[in-house]
Amino acid sequence: MSGNTSENKQNAAVPPSWYANGLDHVWLPYAQMKTAAPPLAVTATHGSRIRLADGRELIDGIASWWTACHGYNHPHIRDAVERQLKAMPHVMFGGLVHEPALILARRLVGLVGPNDLDRVFFSESGSVAIEVALKMAVQYWRNQGRTRTRFLAFSGGYHGDTTGAMAVSDPVGSMHAAFRGLLPEQITVDLPVDEKSTAAFEAALKQHAHELAAIIAEPLVQGAGGMRFHDAQVLRTLRAAADRHDLLLVFDEIFTGFCRTGSLFAFQAAGVVPDIVTLSKALTGGTLPLAATIAGKKVFEAFWSDDPAQALMHGPTFTANPLACAAANASLDLFEREPRLAQVAEISGALSAGLEPCRKLPGVKDVRVKGAIGVVEMEHIKDLNALRQRFVAEGVFIRPFGAVVYLTPSFTIAEGELAKLTDAIRRVLSEGV
Ligand SMILES: Cc1ncc(COP(=O)(O)O)c(C=O)c1O
Repeated sequence: MSGNTSENKQNAAVPPSWYANGLDHVWLPYAQMKTAAPPLAVTATHGSRIRLADGRELIDGIASWWTACHGYNHPHIRDAVERQLKAMPHVMFGGLVHEPALILARRLVGLVGPNDLDRVFFSESGSVAIEVALKMAVQYWRNQGRTRTRFLAFSGGYHGDTTGAMAVSDPVGSMHAAFRGLLPEQITVDLPVDEKSTAAFEAALKQHAHELAAIIAEPLVQGAGGMRFHDAQVLRTLRAAADRHDLLLVFDEIFTGFCRTGSLFAFQAAGVVPDIVTLSKALTGGTLPLAATIAGKKVFEAFWSDDPAQALMHGPTFTANPLACAAANASLDLFEREPRLAQVAEISGALSAGLEPCRKLPGVKDVRVKGAIGVVEMEHIKDLNALRQRFVAEGVFIRPFGAVVYLTPSFTIAEGELAKLTDAIRRVLSEGV
């Protein structure tokens, strides 16, 4: 920590000019701009640390929305991006291809397989990867002369903030009410976790299967919808139901992919192969925006035709951006070379040990850990802004939402840093929230 020098004290009193001059011209995500606490001015990141303009350094508990899985500024990724920057920062992917993208596509297919998943469509954000998956599913049927344009999705699910992605997310969490008329209405049911919910799931399928293009779910962990976990058996139920009703199955691994839940991909732990899988977030080790929608052979074959109208009609301007693909290839090198799964297992143990005592604290509803995800669910959080600021005062960056306080640290976080995060959560929650 470097927050005690006189120079830093001076910085704390005077925000940098870029902050003072620019703040009134940005519109921040998920923020009521009138009442949100002023954002923290960041000047640098390294490892699991975020350095602020006033000289303080925070230990990062959430790895920038679950992306920075190798820690910030990993030299191997930085070198790869620098090399790519010199050769070719960007070239369009329409009619042109390049080495970083083709190498990455082949590597991703190798990692999600061996199975039928073998065609990678690149985009630049998780939400867009979902839009592409939805369009693939709808057009898969249309190319076979059938109109199936709706999706079966799950309460508590979250798939992004674009229109199609919001429509398959939890109706309350995604504020369907605010966008009524804009969002296509989908079928939302509870995940089939027990007899009652399985019966409701089956009933919805019976009623709607004829109009459904696909079932879409986050495997093993519903992230932004509440950090809720479910068993691998649920995924097997989804696969069996999709097969029985002749539907596609889409797994959104944008949060769960790349070791976060304790296996490289969550669906692999369940031994269930979806027809389409989406990846993003940790794909580039949290350095550059990139996403992938990977389709199975059956899906791709439905587009293979002499008819141009049967082509997949999607093409983001920055699809397969070479810098992002180079970052992703370097990130995959790190997954190959460094013991990420072992690190996740260690983090898992430390999260359990560090967070379990919270169970006894007032207002705590549940404590749960899966892989490198640690969650303390409260009955209620009165003032999220105040709680977030309280964590900053403890020297940690933790961003609770809804009634959930959670940690998703980088896999390279030091033992002592992780202990500081769990200590801070125990201390702050013991004060009552
Ligand atoms: C499971 C899941 N799907 C999709 C998204 C959307 O990704 P993006 O924010 O990159 O659009 C997210 C983001 O949190 C997510 O967690």
